[in-house]
Amino acid sequence: MKLLLENIRELVQVETENLEFRAGKEMAKVDTIKNAFLIIRDEIIEDFGPMSELKDKYHDDDLLIEIDCSDRLVYPSFCDSHTHLVYPAAREREFVDRIKGLSYEEIARRGGGILNSSKLLHETSEEELYNSAMERIVEIIKMGTGAVEIKSGYGLNPEDELKMLRVIRWIRETSPICVRSTFLGAHAIPLEYKSNPSKYVDVVINEMIPQVAAEELADYIDVFCDQGFFSVEDTERILMAGMKYGLRPKIHANELGLTGGVQVSVKYNALSVDHLEFIEEDEIAALHGTETMPTVLPGAAFFLGMKLSPVREMIDAGLPIALASDYNPGSSPSGNMSLISAMGCIKYKMLPEEVINATTLNSAYAMGLNESYGSIAKGKIANLFITSEMPGIEYLPYSYGSNLVETVILNGEVQSF
Ligand code: NIG
Ligand code: FE
Repeated sequence: MKLLLENIRELVQVETENLEFRAGKEMAKVDTIKNAFLIIRDEIIEDFGPMSELKDKYHDDDLLIEIDCSDRLVYPSFCDSHTHLVYPAAREREFVDRIKGLSYEEIARRGGGILNSSKLLHETSEEELYNSAMERIVEIIKMGTGAVEIKSGYGLNPEDELKMLRVIRWIRETSPICVRSTFLGAHAIPLEYKSNPSKYVDVVINEMIPQVAAEELADYIDVFCDQGFFSVEDTERILMAGMKYGLRPKIHANELGLTGGVQVSVKYNALSVDHLEFIEEDEIAALHGTETMPTVLPGAAFFLGMKLSPVREMIDAGLPIALASDYNPGSSPSGNMSLISAMGCIKYKMLPEEVINATTLNSAYAMGLNESYGSIAKGKIANLFITSEMPGIEYLPYSYGSNLVETVILNGEVQSF
C-alpha cells in the first residue's frame, strides 16, 4: 500500500544523510522542502522531494492513497524521550498545596509526591493502570507524538515495579506508537527505608534489577540522583548493577541542586541526563563531546515554578539539547509537545529550528531511536503529522496552547480518532 502526500507547503526536518543528533550552532539548522511530496510504502518513508519532480518519478499504478496537503506543513512526529505516563491517579491536591506555599520537596518529605502515587499504585490493578495510561497515549498521539519513553518508578518494591513495567510492555504491544521502557526503581526512598536508604538501594540491585532483566522488561535504567533523593554513591552502585545486564543509564539529575549527577551520568556513558535546572561551567564542560544527551523538561520547570535550565548557554557552548514533556502526575501533568516547543522558544530563547531538532532528532537519540525516527528520511518509519493550515515553522511554537496537528500518520497508517 502506498500513500502519497502532495502539495505540502513545507516538508520539515528532511534528512539525506543520517545524523545522530544536532549540537551547538548546528541546532539552528533544519532542512525543509517547500511545495513538496512524500511517498510512504507500508510503514516506511520511501521518497520525498519537490512537487516538480513527482511526475517523472512515479507513474506506476500501485494502489495509491493521495492526501492533498495544500497550505499545510508536514513534520516528523515528536519524540518524547522522558515520561512517567503510567500512574494511578492525578495529584491535583498537591498542586493546591503548592499554590498555598508548600514546596515540591516539602510535599515529598511529608510522604506525598512520588510516595503518594506509589501507595495508590499498589492498590491499582494492571488493567486499570493500562486503561488510564492508554487514554494518555491516545491523547499524546493526537498531539503529534510518535515515539515515547515511559518509566517505572511508582512501584518502589519488586512486585509493583515489575507490575508497572509489564503495563509498559502491554502498551508497547498494543498501541501504534513506538515505546521505550525505562526501569526507575530508584525514584524515591520508600518511608520504611528513610533511615537507611542504602538498604533500599540493595533491594533495587539484588531483587529488582535481576528480575527486570530476566523478563526483558526495560531498555534503560534511571535513578533520581538529586538532593534529598539518591546520592551519587547510590547512583553509581545502581548503574553498575544495571549495566551488568546491559541496561544503559538515562538519569534524572540536577533538578534540585548541583549534586554531581551530570558527572556521574557522563562517567557511565548515560544516553541522556535530564532536568538540568542546576548546571554550571563544570557540568557543561563534562558533557562536551560525550554521547550523553542533555535533556531539558520545560513542563516540570513551568509547573513547579523552578529556575530555568540555561539552555542558551549550553547550546552556545556547543552542546546538543533535547526537550521532553516529563508527563507525570506530580511535576508535569501534560504530554503536549507543541506546548513544550512553545516553552522552548518563549522561556528558553530557543529558535524555532532549535526546538524542532530538540523535539525530533535529538529526543529520538535520547531514547536510542534516531536510526528509525526523528526525521523525514528514506527508510525511516513513517511516523509524522500534517498540520492544519499554517504559514511556516515559526507558527507552531508561536501558537502556544493550540493543537495544530490535524492528521497523524503512524507506521504509514492514517490514524482515526
Ligand atoms: O521527573 N523528578 C523526579 N521525578 C519526576 C516527578 C515525578 C512525580 O512527582 O510524580 C520528574 O519530575
Ligand atoms: Fe521525570
